[in-house]
Amino acid sequence: MNIKWDAQTYTDHFSFVHEYGADVIKLIEQQGTLSVLDLGCGNGALTKKLSGLGMNVIGMDASEELLKVARENYPDLTFIKGDATNFELAENVDVVFSNAVFHWIHQDKQMQMLKCVYKAMKDGGQFVFEFGGYGNNIQIHNALEQEFRARGKVYHMPFYFPTIGEYTTLLEKVGFKVKYAVLFDRMTKLNGEDGLADWIKMFVKTPFEGMDREEQETIINQAVLSLKGKLYHNGIWYADYVRIRGKAIK
Ligand code: BEZ
Repeated sequence: MNIKWDAQTYTDHFSFVHEYGADVIKLIEQQGTLSVLDLGCGNGALTKKLSGLGMNVIGMDASEELLKVARENYPDLTFIKGDATNFELAENVDVVFSNAVFHWIHQDKQMQMLKCVYKAMKDGGQFVFEFGGYGNNIQIHNALEQEFRARGKVYHMPFYFPTIGEYTTLLEKVGFKVKYAVLFDRMTKLNGEDGLADWIKMFVKTPFEGMDREEQETIINQAVLSLKGKLYHNGIWYADYVRIRGKAIK
């Protein structure tokens, strides 16, 4: 999915995305100086972390806006533009790492992406990833769906949130040996009194395409209101994240 990122707001207000990603890095077994592709590197915060751990890392992303921020923030690192579903590397790497990216890629393109990843890795290489799993943000998407339906509109779910069985099967079909996979809930704190509305505006863009601003605002405000009893606790908004985290070997 190609969305236009507001890269600075993303970096300033949604830093939890890469802060949680630091835990995923721990799945990489460090032997010697590893060559790493950070696939869907976004603003480069985790690329920097990987580099700080002594890895030789390249960040790849499809978004010019995010790459611009990454290059400005970390001029010492290498960032390249690339499509996760259609890329090749000049040299195969020891590790492909990816955080919070694969749910943006359409289900029909997942296999193609995994084939690119597999091809880009050395034999014995580690593929370490986390993204939105089955049931991710279900309460938020259900609330939006209900508000769309109340206005005679259809809410097209813009993300791919597979079950663990579905995803590990795909990995095995491509040839990976799955060493670890887990699906877990992670209620995630959002920033500020408008935290949930801001989250929806930042991440859920495509269902609102072509809709006038006033109607968008009404739908978002109504959805947020309907979620107050479920996702607002002690003055803090939460998003009902579910993660799928895994490690597979070529
Ligand atoms: C996620 O990281 O799971 C996610 C973030 C924004 C939109 C959808 C999923």
